[in-house]
Amino acid sequence: MILPIRALGDPILRTKAKEITDADKDMLPELIENMRETMKKANGIGLAAPQVGYSLRIFVADLRVLAQDEDYEDIADVLASFNKVFINPIMIEETGTEWKFNEGCLSIPDVREDVARKENILLLYQDENFVEHEERFSGIFARVIQHEYDHLEGILFIDHLSSFKKKILKGKLSKINTGNIQVSYSMRFPK
Ligand code: NI
Repeated sequence: MILPIRALGDPILRTKAKEITDADKDMLPELIENMRETMKKANGIGLAAPQVGYSLRIFVADLRVLAQDEDYEDIADVLASFNKVFINPIMIEETGTEWKFNEGCLSIPDVREDVARKENILLLYQDENFVEHEERFSGIFARVIQHEYDHLEGILFIDHLSSFKKKILKGKLSKINTGNIQVSYSMRFPK
């Protein structure tokens, strides 16, 4: 089932999401399936539960489409099978030099900006079978995880921009807030 994606201005996007417990486990397979379907329909490569109205610590990332991109030729093999679920992730460390990448967000349509983040991460998480992993990611893999992890903390990529950039974007962002925008996928705007 495709779920409407919450737009910028929805309080759930600013709420720290709750840890997933045994009590949530029965509903998770369906939520994961719905999140994957919703992300795919919107041509996204990552989606966090708060974006579809669930304040829970889970996100999905599907980078398989990037395997066709010639910019990522040397990591095409890894990209081609990267379709993961991250449950109760804990960012253990972020290391390396900051690098800029042009980010977007399904909750903030039509806005793309360069965001600086560290290159490498060490992440503790559970997969969809609740198997625990402690895994290092770097480059584009780290980037998508950092963006989605932020969602669980109530942080959006625009928060990382300079106050000057934010000022320039103000008009565009308020249009998203009020739903005064055309989007090709199902969205729910704050009233
Ligand atoms: Ni996002």
